[in-house]
Amino acid sequence: MIGTQIARNSSDMQQYRDSVGKGSPPDKPKLMDGGNYIKEGRDSAKSTCLIFSPREDDEVGSLGRYLKLFAKHKVNLLHIESRSSARTVDNYEFMVECAPGGDLAAVIETLRDQCGYFSIISRNHKDNLGTVPWFPGRIRDLDRFANQILSYGSELDSDHPGFTDTVYRARRKYFADIAYHYKHGEPIPRVDYTPAETATWGVVFRKLTSMYPKYACREHNHVFPLLIENCGYREDNIPQLEDISNFLKDCTGFTLRPVAGLLSSRDFLAGLAFRVFHSTQYIRHSSKPLYTPEPDVCHEVLGHVPLFADPAFAQFSQVIGLASLGAPDEYIEKLATCFWFTVEFGLCRQNGELKAYGAGLLSSYGELEYSLSDKPELRPFDPAKTALQKYPITEYQPVYFVAEDFEDAKEKMIKFAQTIPRKFGVRYDPYTQSVNIIDSKHQIEDLVTNVNQEVQLLMDALKKLKD
Ligand SMILES: [Fe+2]
Repeated sequence: MIGTQIARNSSDMQQYRDSVGKGSPPDKPKLMDGGNYIKEGRDSAKSTCLIFSPREDDEVGSLGRYLKLFAKHKVNLLHIESRSSARTVDNYEFMVECAPGGDLAAVIETLRDQCGYFSIISRNHKDNLGTVPWFPGRIRDLDRFANQILSYGSELDSDHPGFTDTVYRARRKYFADIAYHYKHGEPIPRVDYTPAETATWGVVFRKLTSMYPKYACREHNHVFPLLIENCGYREDNIPQLEDISNFLKDCTGFTLRPVAGLLSSRDFLAGLAFRVFHSTQYIRHSSKPLYTPEPDVCHEVLGHVPLFADPAFAQFSQVIGLASLGAPDEYIEKLATCFWFTVEFGLCRQNGELKAYGAGLLSSYGELEYSLSDKPELRPFDPAKTALQKYPITEYQPVYFVAEDFEDAKEKMIKFAQTIPRKFGVRYDPYTQSVNIIDSKHQIEDLVTNVNQEVQLLMDALKKLKD
């Protein structure tokens, strides 16, 4: 049985914060009892971002005046940024990241009163009414997640097959370090997998690839030969994340990022909004090649990767990601559950036959066979209902949800996303690889103009087809 690399709920994050020793060094993972490492997040967990723009009639140089406010109330600033405002014509807006401490409430009160536009984005959203939970605005903001992981990669439970294997533990630490130091835009470091690791991969590869023609969905079987051809998928070779990431980028714009440990559901789903998938790079323990209690490189590259090369599936995944940005905690849990029953354990119907598209199934020979037998209960995928379904994480699923196709699943997710209480819309801009918060009439008018131009282009192409 294979899990997912997202934490089950936001209380996991709280437990993590509570469990981290207060005296742990700020830069190095702390060695815990039993040989586990754990890493404390930096203070971005506690900082607050304010976004504001001067009133239209404000004089030039207003930023300086606003900044004096922070000094007056003893609020330290970690980052200041000015940019052109998309909300009003010829105006600017400022993004200021504040460190904890000082009288931030007084600053907020004054800014709210004096500014044309004002919003707060903070990890501490529960303590501040009207605050939007923090989410990345640009793709490089995903670098911050490295400092927000719930556990550091080499933390193993006592029943983990590699628990007593010091060589395996050291190896897990090595992979965790690669991910921890990774920054957006860098190539993902190539790994020399050992002969033992490659042999483990070989067992998994042989077993699963013999099952795909019968059990995997059409999209998975369509892409797999391309991965063999382009990314070195072979029984005697573990493919490199960098090659796969480049391949996916060409197909759908999806990219991979190595991940050092468990991310919170909120952070993991936020990555999908940018078409970024957080992927592990280590492999399961060699003593049990057909079992892993956690996601590993086999799960990622055999289960997840082929589907991310499919345009409709990629879009479906991004819809879940975009819906999660700034959503309240209870909706993050609902979206994570939808992710679980689709991207991880989804089934679909193709030509009247049930097929698997979930990565948890496509990377587990036992559950793949079981899920398509007459044993489990099947229900139609309906996000509002699916989101409430409880599920076990250490055994086969008693219930699976069946999607008609990815387009249909996407439409349903979009409708479900509209029920999430959020005071703004979000839109991904692929040119700047950033997420725009849509909360003004001016932005909507601009977008309508763009959509009109796209429709014109399509009408023109259609006309040429008819000629
Ligand atoms: Fe997964």
